Amino acid sequence: MPDGQPNGQNEARRNKSEDDITAEALARFAETPDPRLRQIMLGLIGHLHAFVKEVQLTEAEWFQAIEILTEAGKMCSDKRQEFILFSDTLGVSMVVDLLDHRKPEGATESTVFGPFHRLGAPEMPEGGNIAHRDRTGIPTLVSGRVLDLDGRPIAGAVLDVWQAQSNGLYDAQDKDPDALHMRGKFRSDAEGNYLIRTVQPVNYPIPSDGPVGAMLKATGRHPWRPAHIHFVVSADGYEPVTTHIFDRTDPYLASDAVFAVKDSLVCDFVRHEAPEPAASRLGIAAPYLTASFDFRLTPAAAAQAGVIDAQRRLAALGNR
Ligand code: BEZ
Ligand code: FE
Repeated sequence: MPDGQPNGQNEARRNKSEDDITAEALARFAETPDPRLRQIMLGLIGHLHAFVKEVQLTEAEWFQAIEILTEAGKMCSDKRQEFILFSDTLGVSMVVDLLDHRKPEGATESTVFGPFHRLGAPEMPEGGNIAHRDRTGIPTLVSGRVLDLDGRPIAGAVLDVWQAQSNGLYDAQDKDPDALHMRGKFRSDAEGNYLIRTVQPVNYPIPSDGPVGAMLKATGRHPWRPAHIHFVVSADGYEPVTTHIFDRTDPYLASDAVFAVKDSLVCDFVRHEAPEPAASRLGIAAPYLTASFDFRLTPAAAAQAGVIDAQRRLAALGNR
């Protein structure tokens, strides 16, 4: 008897229906030793087979799906992650976010990580300018505090910040893709305060020159994301939070291509027509904008190593 073929398997029916195949595939995974992997594989097979039967998938459509996935794989590089883009635009990333990052009342909510984070952002002093090469954006000061759930300041928290330039492109999408721009790591002071100099965030279309763009076009969807700034805020003894702040006036807040807007993350970017001391001290002339946002972190739970692990893995996918 060949290895791995239990007694009696040779006698199984061979003129099978589609439901027989589903049952047989489920049975083959039923002995998976790791219980979590078993649950995931059985769920995957069950839903995948049910989906194929529900839509009565043709072989031509099945092959088209294979071509789309192949193309997505070919597009992936150290600067492009087409599979994350699929997950984001299908709403899957945000479902995972909601399931895996349930926060207590008052804690800053998380949202998608997105494909444009890069390792190695420079450490910046209070008021440091992440937009030093951006000549067209309106100067903007983002400030606030990092607090615990009781409103006590968290000193020494790290705010890893990244943002698209005022031309709507991330550094990795622009002329000099290896140079880091619009990124920085800031630290909160003893009172939990932070201050970041940047330019006004703009709305921008997610990369649409690959299979995700083709999917959006074919389904009549737009590729736009509302104006936002990305943050990962972390501090010893607290759960890190991966999030954005969004501009309240943005027309795409209700139709973000990646479903990532949460009401608690929307904030006011206030325009100033006359200089004020905080801006003048940093050499910023009017007009400029200010935005204020406090981050509230939850105490660390044992499971939280996973959040940072996931981000390191994503970043390491392309050694970014
Ligand atoms: C971003 O905001 O950088 C982003 C998030 C999801 C998909 C594409 C871009
Ligand atoms: Fe973004």
